[in-house]
Amino acid sequence: MKILVVGGAGYIGSICAELLLDQGHEIAVFDNLSEGHRHAIDPRARFIEGDLQDRQAIDSALAVARPEAVMHFAASALVSESMRDPSKYFRNNISNGLNLLDAMEAAHVERIVFSSTCAIFGPPERLPIDETAPTRPINPYGESKLAFEKILRWYDEIHGLKFVSLRYFNAAGASANFGEDHRVETHLIPNALKVALGQKPHVEIFGTDYETPDGTCIRDYIHIVDLARAHILALDAARSELYNLGTGGGASVREVIAACRKITGKKIDTVEKPRRPGDPPRLIASSEKIKNELGWRPQFQSLDAIIESAWKWHQKFPHGYGD
Ligand code: UFG
Repeated sequence: MKILVVGGAGYIGSICAELLLDQGHEIAVFDNLSEGHRHAIDPRARFIEGDLQDRQAIDSALAVARPEAVMHFAASALVSESMRDPSKYFRNNISNGLNLLDAMEAAHVERIVFSSTCAIFGPPERLPIDETAPTRPINPYGESKLAFEKILRWYDEIHGLKFVSLRYFNAAGASANFGEDHRVETHLIPNALKVALGQKPHVEIFGTDYETPDGTCIRDYIHIVDLARAHILALDAARSELYNLGTGGGASVREVIAACRKITGKKIDTVEKPRRPGDPPRLIASSEKIKNELGWRPQFQSLDAIIESAWKWHQKFPHGYGD
């Protein structure tokens, strides 16, 4: 298929583009390089530099790439930042996303795979979180993604747009070539690995008084390659759907740091800090629906395998993409 990967220079988009290219798809990447990196774009892809604020740029990208489907990864995606600057999240994730949908409609592109998040749920009533769980986000990031899912539903009903929305839990790990390099790194695993690389003195633990066995937050870490495979399956989905995507396992912040110590063989000092605003205590996915309906099977179930792949990539590229 011909696919336009919007946000294809970012962490998740770059690895999805790589897998799609490995499978013989024709890929164009549309990205403004604000969060993404030029060197994260697979050289086999056509790169179109542009911004979702700019409707004309999207129109011309669609005219050049002539995609049969769009994958939409371009978003602001930090819970803590969204608690300080909600406007950025509503603008980038809703208004700019609408530009993309309207341009798709005008160009008769009728299929989209959308990057959503477990942050749409807020603190869960029961675990694991399946697709019937109430959606009550506790941060503007989750609210913006939830709003966009609702918009997709209406565009399907009114314009016939077929969508699959994938609610990622915690994406982590790397492929051999592409990995996680944010200009401002807020995520736990890369921060712990930067300590192992000697680039940071310690990793901070945000909150040690949660109602969890060791007092730190529990998350469901999913290997980025498994996540990317779900996108490829979503391209063939028969109808519009929403799917949660995780492994069904949970690891606390302390457990993640312990696993990083074991895999890297480094000490990794920690400093305990207060809770980070907007963080729910526990998030664990039920992915039964995507397993049953699209036949998705995660291949990397263990946290160790995820961290090992990330560690390999960080050792190979200690300064990430270098920009
Ligand atoms: N954490 C630390 N120290 C750090 C970084 C993170 O203790 O240096 C903690 C966080 O407080 C949280 C856990 O580690 O409890 C995981 O944090 P990340 O920043 O790695 O990931 P998040 O769970 O905040 O974010 C992920 C996705 C978001 C999504 C969110 C839902 O990256 O897109 O889950 O809560 F919205």
